[in-house]
Amino acid sequence: MAIDVAIQDGVMSIAFARPEKKNAITAAMYSAMADALRAASVEDAVRTVVIAGTSGVFTAGNDLGDFLANPIVDLDHPVVQFMDAFVDLDKPVIGAVTGHAVGVGVTLLLHCDLVYLAEGAIFTMPFVGLGLVPEFGSTYLLPQRLGHARAAEHLLLGEPMSAADALAYGLVNAVLPPAEVIPRALHTAARLGALSADALQASKRLLRGPQREATRHAIRAEAEVFVERLRSPEARAALRAFFERRGA
Ligand code: COA
Repeated sequence: MAIDVAIQDGVMSIAFARPEKKNAITAAMYSAMADALRAASVEDAVRTVVIAGTSGVFTAGNDLGDFLANPIVDLDHPVVQFMDAFVDLDKPVIGAVTGHAVGVGVTLLLHCDLVYLAEGAIFTMPFVGLGLVPEFGSTYLLPQRLGHARAAEHLLLGEPMSAADALAYGLVNAVLPPAEVIPRALHTAARLGALSADALQASKRLLRGPQREATRHAIRAEAEVFVERLRSPEARAALRAFFERRGA
Protein backbone atom coordinates (compact mmCIF):
# COMPACT_ATOMS: atom_id res chain seq x y z
CA MET A 1 0.00 0.00 0.00
CA ALA A 2 3.11 2.21 0.42
CA ILE A 3 1.71 3.69 3.63
CA ASP A 4 2.74 2.07 6.91
CA VAL A 5 0.34 2.59 9.78
CA ALA A 6 1.13 1.50 13.33
CA ILE A 7 -0.29 2.31 16.74
CA GLN A 8 1.99 2.23 19.76
CA ASP A 9 1.80 3.91 23.16
CA GLY A 10 -1.13 6.10 22.10
CA VAL A 11 0.57 7.28 18.90
CA MET A 12 -0.64 6.43 15.43
CA SER A 13 2.30 6.63 13.02
CA ILE A 14 1.41 7.12 9.39
CA ALA A 15 4.58 6.73 7.34
CA PHE A 16 5.14 7.16 3.63
CA ALA A 17 6.85 3.98 2.46
CA ARG A 18 7.59 4.44 -1.23
CA PRO A 19 11.11 5.82 -1.13
CA GLU A 20 11.97 4.49 -4.60
CA LYS A 21 9.42 7.00 -5.97
CA LYS A 22 10.32 9.70 -3.44
CA ASN A 23 7.13 8.79 -1.54
CA ALA A 24 4.93 10.17 -4.34
CA ILE A 25 1.32 9.67 -3.25
CA THR A 26 -1.08 7.53 -5.29
CA ALA A 27 -4.88 7.34 -4.96
CA ALA A 28 -4.47 4.08 -3.02
CA MET A 29 -2.12 5.83 -0.59
CA TYR A 30 -4.62 8.68 -0.06
CA SER A 31 -7.30 6.05 0.66
CA ALA A 32 -5.06 4.33 3.20
CA MET A 33 -4.31 7.64 4.90
CA ALA A 34 -7.97 8.68 4.92
CA ASP A 35 -8.89 5.33 6.56
CA ALA A 36 -6.10 5.74 9.12
CA LEU A 37 -7.13 9.29 10.03
CA ARG A 38 -10.79 8.29 10.39
CA ALA A 39 -9.73 5.38 12.62
CA ALA A 40 -7.52 7.73 14.66
CA SER A 41 -10.53 9.95 15.22
CA VAL A 42 -12.65 7.22 16.83
CA GLU A 43 -10.12 4.92 18.50
CA ASP A 44 -9.45 5.71 22.15
CA ALA A 45 -6.08 3.97 21.84
CA VAL A 46 -4.92 6.84 19.61
CA ARG A 47 -4.07 10.10 21.38
CA THR A 48 -1.89 11.70 18.70
CA VAL A 49 -0.91 11.12 15.08
CA VAL A 50 2.60 11.41 13.61
CA ILE A 51 3.03 11.66 9.83
CA ALA A 52 6.54 10.76 8.73
CA GLY A 53 8.61 10.42 5.59
CA THR A 54 11.72 8.41 4.86
CA SER A 55 15.40 9.28 4.83
CA GLY A 56 15.98 12.41 2.74
CA VAL A 57 12.41 12.85 1.55
CA PHE A 58 9.06 13.54 3.16
CA THR A 59 7.07 13.22 -0.07
CA ALA A 60 7.37 14.39 -3.68
CA GLY A 61 3.66 15.13 -3.57
CA ASN A 62 0.95 13.65 -5.71
CA ASP A 63 2.07 10.86 -8.03
CA LEU A 64 2.41 12.62 -11.38
CA GLY A 65 1.65 9.42 -13.28
CA ASP A 66 -1.62 9.18 -11.36
CA PHE A 67 -2.44 12.74 -12.42
CA LEU A 68 -2.28 11.48 -16.02
CA ALA A 69 -3.71 7.98 -15.64
CA ASN A 70 -6.08 8.21 -12.69
CA PRO A 71 -6.90 11.91 -12.32
CA ILE A 72 -9.25 13.35 -9.79
CA VAL A 73 -12.59 13.82 -11.60
CA ASP A 74 -14.91 14.65 -8.73
CA LEU A 75 -15.00 15.30 -5.00
CA ASP A 76 -15.40 11.58 -4.18
CA HIS A 77 -11.77 11.01 -5.08
CA PRO A 78 -9.60 9.56 -2.26
CA VAL A 79 -7.52 12.75 -2.15
CA VAL A 80 -10.58 14.77 -1.09
CA GLN A 81 -11.52 12.10 1.46
CA PHE A 82 -8.01 12.31 2.85
CA MET A 83 -8.21 16.11 3.10
CA ASP A 84 -11.63 15.98 4.78
CA ALA A 85 -10.47 13.37 7.31
CA PHE A 86 -7.40 15.50 8.10
CA VAL A 87 -9.39 18.71 8.59
CA ASP A 88 -12.01 16.92 10.72
CA LEU A 89 -9.51 15.33 13.13
CA ASP A 90 -9.57 16.78 16.64
CA LYS A 91 -6.54 14.83 17.84
CA PRO A 92 -3.17 16.56 17.40
CA VAL A 93 -1.13 15.74 14.32
CA ILE A 94 2.65 16.09 14.23
CA GLY A 95 4.59 16.29 10.97
CA ALA A 96 7.97 14.51 11.01
CA VAL A 97 9.38 16.00 7.84
CA THR A 98 12.48 13.93 7.21
CA GLY A 99 13.48 15.68 3.98
CA HIS A 100 12.21 17.49 0.90
CA ALA A 101 8.51 18.09 0.54
CA VAL A 102 6.73 18.97 -2.70
CA GLY A 103 3.14 20.00 -3.45
CA VAL A 104 0.68 18.32 -1.12
CA GLY A 105 3.69 17.31 0.99
CA VAL A 106 3.94 20.97 1.93
CA THR A 107 0.27 21.91 1.97
CA LEU A 108 -0.61 19.07 4.35
CA LEU A 109 1.78 20.61 6.87
CA LEU A 110 -0.60 23.57 7.16
CA HIS A 111 -3.00 21.11 8.82
CA CYS A 112 -0.46 19.65 11.25
CA ASP A 113 -0.35 21.09 14.76
CA LEU A 114 3.40 20.76 15.21
CA VAL A 115 6.07 20.19 12.58
CA TYR A 116 9.71 19.08 12.89
CA LEU A 117 11.85 19.54 9.81
CA ALA A 118 15.17 18.04 8.71
CA GLU A 119 18.06 20.44 8.11
CA GLY A 120 18.64 20.99 4.41
CA ALA A 121 15.08 20.08 3.42
CA ILE A 122 13.39 22.28 0.84
CA PHE A 123 9.70 22.95 0.31
CA THR A 124 8.35 23.52 -3.19
CA MET A 125 4.82 24.03 -4.45
CA PRO A 126 5.19 23.88 -8.25
CA PHE A 127 1.45 23.82 -8.97
CA VAL A 128 1.25 26.71 -11.43
CA GLY A 129 4.40 25.61 -13.27
CA LEU A 130 2.60 22.32 -13.92
CA GLY A 131 -0.45 24.17 -15.26
CA LEU A 132 -2.35 23.37 -12.03
CA VAL A 133 -3.60 25.33 -9.04
CA PRO A 134 -2.70 25.00 -5.36
CA GLU A 135 -4.77 22.64 -3.20
CA PHE A 136 -5.59 21.46 0.34
CA GLY A 137 -6.81 24.87 1.42
CA SER A 138 -3.39 26.41 0.82
CA THR A 139 -4.79 29.39 -1.11
CA TYR A 140 -6.57 30.30 2.12
CA LEU A 141 -4.16 29.10 4.80
CA LEU A 142 -0.75 30.02 3.35
CA PRO A 143 -1.47 33.76 2.90
CA GLN A 144 -2.92 33.72 6.41
CA ARG A 145 0.34 32.28 7.78
CA LEU A 146 2.89 34.07 5.56
CA GLY A 147 1.10 37.17 4.29
CA HIS A 148 -0.10 37.43 0.73
CA ALA A 149 3.15 38.61 -0.87
CA ARG A 150 5.28 35.76 0.47
CA ALA A 151 2.56 33.21 -0.18
CA ALA A 152 2.39 34.40 -3.79
CA GLU A 153 6.14 33.87 -4.18
CA HIS A 154 5.74 30.23 -3.23
CA LEU A 155 2.26 29.43 -4.57
CA LEU A 156 2.38 31.40 -7.84
CA LEU A 157 6.07 31.56 -8.74
CA GLY A 158 6.85 28.19 -7.13
CA GLU A 159 9.95 29.61 -5.41
CA PRO A 160 11.59 26.98 -3.20
CA MET A 161 11.45 27.61 0.54
CA SER A 162 14.48 26.72 2.65
CA ALA A 163 14.20 25.07 6.04
CA ALA A 164 15.47 28.30 7.62
CA ASP A 165 12.69 30.29 5.93
CA ALA A 166 10.06 27.71 6.94
CA LEU A 167 11.22 28.15 10.53
CA ALA A 168 11.30 31.94 10.29
CA TYR A 169 7.75 31.96 8.84
CA GLY A 170 6.51 29.80 11.71
CA LEU A 171 5.53 26.91 9.45
CA VAL A 172 7.66 24.51 11.49
CA ASN A 173 8.59 24.28 15.18
CA ALA A 174 12.22 23.26 14.82
CA VAL A 175 14.83 22.39 12.21
CA LEU A 176 16.85 19.39 13.34
CA PRO A 177 19.52 16.99 12.15
CA PRO A 178 17.61 14.50 9.98
CA ALA A 179 18.11 11.57 12.36
CA GLU A 180 16.47 13.52 15.19
CA VAL A 181 13.25 14.40 13.37
CA ILE A 182 11.20 11.27 14.03
CA PRO A 183 12.47 10.78 17.62
CA ARG A 184 11.57 14.41 18.42
CA ALA A 185 8.10 13.96 16.90
CA LEU A 186 7.55 10.82 18.97
CA HIS A 187 8.82 12.56 22.10
CA THR A 188 6.37 15.42 21.57
CA ALA A 189 3.60 12.90 20.86
CA ALA A 190 4.34 11.24 24.21
CA ARG A 191 4.15 14.61 25.97
CA LEU A 192 0.81 15.37 24.33
CA GLY A 193 -0.39 11.84 25.10
CA ALA A 194 0.24 12.39 28.81
CA LEU A 195 -2.23 15.30 28.87
CA SER A 196 -5.98 15.01 29.32
CA ALA A 197 -7.31 13.67 26.01
CA ASP A 198 -10.55 15.62 26.40
CA ALA A 199 -8.81 18.90 27.20
CA LEU A 200 -6.40 18.40 24.32
CA GLN A 201 -9.09 17.69 21.75
CA ALA A 202 -11.28 20.51 22.99
CA SER A 203 -8.28 22.84 22.71
CA LYS A 204 -7.52 21.75 19.17
CA ARG A 205 -11.18 22.29 18.24
CA LEU A 206 -10.93 25.81 19.63
CA LEU A 207 -7.62 26.49 17.86
CA ARG A 208 -8.82 25.21 14.49
CA GLY A 209 -12.50 26.00 14.88
CA PRO A 210 -12.60 29.50 13.39
CA GLN A 211 -10.75 28.32 10.24
CA ARG A 212 -12.41 24.99 9.66
CA GLU A 213 -15.41 26.04 7.60
CA ALA A 214 -13.36 28.42 5.46
CA THR A 215 -10.73 25.69 5.00
CA ARG A 216 -13.32 23.15 3.84
CA HIS A 217 -14.73 25.75 1.47
CA ALA A 218 -11.26 26.51 0.04
CA ILE A 219 -10.52 22.79 -0.43
CA ARG A 220 -13.66 22.38 -2.49
CA ALA A 221 -13.20 25.55 -4.52
CA GLU A 222 -9.60 24.57 -5.31
CA ALA A 223 -10.54 20.97 -6.15
CA GLU A 224 -13.16 22.09 -8.67
CA VAL A 225 -10.61 24.19 -10.54
CA PHE A 226 -7.91 21.54 -10.11
CA VAL A 227 -10.11 18.97 -11.89
CA GLU A 228 -10.47 21.35 -14.85
CA ARG A 229 -6.80 22.26 -14.91
CA LEU A 230 -5.76 18.58 -14.94
CA ARG A 231 -7.61 18.20 -18.25
CA SER A 232 -5.92 21.27 -19.77
CA PRO A 233 -3.42 20.73 -22.58
CA GLU A 234 -0.70 22.64 -20.73
CA ALA A 235 -1.02 20.53 -17.58
CA ARG A 236 -0.95 17.30 -19.56
CA ALA A 237 2.08 18.52 -21.48
CA ALA A 238 3.90 19.52 -18.27
CA LEU A 239 3.17 16.16 -16.65
CA ARG A 240 4.29 14.23 -19.71
CA ALA A 241 7.43 16.37 -19.85
CA PHE A 242 8.40 15.26 -16.31
CA PHE A 243 8.48 11.63 -17.39
CA GLU A 244 10.03 12.39 -20.81
CA ARG A 245 12.84 14.30 -19.10
CA ARG A 246 13.46 11.21 -17.04
CA GLY A 247 13.46 9.03 -20.16
CA ALA A 248 10.52 7.05 -18.76
N1 COA B 1 5.19 11.28 -9.08
C1 COA B 1 5.61 10.14 -9.64
N2 COA B 1 6.88 9.73 -9.61
C2 COA B 1 7.77 10.52 -8.98
C3 COA B 1 7.40 11.73 -8.38
C4 COA B 1 6.04 12.11 -8.44
N3 COA B 1 5.58 13.23 -7.86
N4 COA B 1 8.49 12.32 -7.84
C5 COA B 1 9.52 11.47 -8.09
N5 COA B 1 9.07 10.40 -8.77
C6 COA B 1 9.86 9.24 -9.23
C7 COA B 1 10.72 9.58 -10.42
O1 COA B 1 9.98 9.44 -11.63
C8 COA B 1 11.79 8.52 -10.26
O2 COA B 1 11.29 7.30 -10.72
P1 COA B 1 12.23 6.32 -11.63
O3 COA B 1 13.45 6.06 -10.80
O4 COA B 1 11.37 5.11 -11.86
O5 COA B 1 12.53 7.10 -12.89
C9 COA B 1 11.97 8.39 -8.76
O6 COA B 1 10.76 8.89 -8.19
C10 COA B 1 13.12 9.19 -8.19
O7 COA B 1 12.93 10.56 -8.57
P2 COA B 1 14.15 11.51 -9.01
O8 COA B 1 13.55 12.66 -9.77
O9 COA B 1 15.21 10.70 -9.68
O10 COA B 1 14.71 12.01 -7.61
P3 COA B 1 15.55 13.34 -7.34
O11 COA B 1 16.12 13.16 -5.97
O12 COA B 1 16.47 13.66 -8.48
O13 COA B 1 14.44 14.50 -7.31
C11 COA B 1 12.32 15.48 -6.71
C12 COA B 1 13.43 14.47 -6.32
C13 COA B 1 11.21 15.29 -5.69
C14 COA B 1 12.89 16.90 -6.66
C15 COA B 1 11.84 15.19 -8.15
O14 COA B 1 11.59 13.79 -8.28
C16 COA B 1 10.59 15.93 -8.52
O15 COA B 1 10.62 17.10 -8.85
N6 COA B 1 9.44 15.21 -8.52
C17 COA B 1 8.17 15.78 -8.93
C18 COA B 1 7.57 16.58 -7.81
C19 COA B 1 6.25 17.20 -8.23
O16 COA B 1 6.16 17.94 -9.18
N7 COA B 1 5.18 16.85 -7.46
C20 COA B 1 3.84 17.25 -7.73
C21 COA B 1 3.56 18.60 -7.20
S1 COA B 1 1.91 19.11 -7.54
